[in-house]
Amino acid sequence: MAGYALGKHGAGEKESMGFLEGRVAVVTGAGSGIGQAIAVRLAKEGAKVVVDYIGSDEGAKETLSSIHAAGGEGVIFQADVTDLQQVQALMDVAHSTYGKCDVLVNNAGLEIKADFWDVTEEQYEKVLDVNLKGPFFLTQAFVRRLRETDAKGRVINISSVHEDMAFPGFASYCMSKGGMRMMMRDLAVELGPLGITINNVAPGAIITPINAKLMSDESKTAQLRRNIPLGVMGHVDDVSGVVAFLASDEAAYITGSTFTVDGGLSRSYHEQ
Ligand code: BGC
Repeated sequence: MAGYALGKHGAGEKESMGFLEGRVAVVTGAGSGIGQAIAVRLAKEGAKVVVDYIGSDEGAKETLSSIHAAGGEGVIFQADVTDLQQVQALMDVAHSTYGKCDVLVNNAGLEIKADFWDVTEEQYEKVLDVNLKGPFFLTQAFVRRLRETDAKGRVINISSVHEDMAFPGFASYCMSKGGMRMMMRDLAVELGPLGITINNVAPGAIITPINAKLMSDESKTAQLRRNIPLGVMGHVDDVSGVVAFLASDEAAYITGSTFTVDGGLSRSYHEQ
């Protein structure tokens, strides 16, 4: 792919341009895990990045220092994606700081494990609000701004293998990710004529804080690894590379698709 071999920080006599040079990206939930890796990767490739986070700003600061260490540019902004005013403010900050926003990465997400019969209304709403309502209205804010100038754009949603696969104990999570899949498919059709693409990246079991509890139990992790044909959990950069590709010129003709990054997990079946 153009730019991968000779990136901004790659070897070579003359400093070459990263393949996302000139782009401006908003990445939600960029203070940790997959979102953090995506923000840093996009910045390494030359995009200016708005690092969205919620809660403590420590993680977001860490993301920004990694961006700077890679020679990139970014800004931190705290916005809760479930709050429509904050969602608007997040999109506005990209425009006021960098004059535009042409890449949106809907990454912020959460899961709450509970047996179906125990799930509370509060838990249900929290999962659906963060994972589905947030991406819906942030994408709407993104598209509204693009329409003002007839600009093209890319939306990349971080969904999950559970946009398709059942995950007992996580019904609301699966519903939110299944909803994200249909949002993506529907908007690919509705936004295509505007030159706006939308795709999902569906990670499997990745080493991130969302899996901290699972990873603290060696027998459960070993069992999970046995279900993964490649035999290991994924790394955040396995996901961020696909996102960088989807934000690049190389992916201009791709819309309405899900890219699974799961070491084969979703194709695996064991009888034991
Ligand atoms: C979930 C993880 C889970 C993985 C594979 C992800 O979407 O966040 O908790 O381990 O899917 O099942």
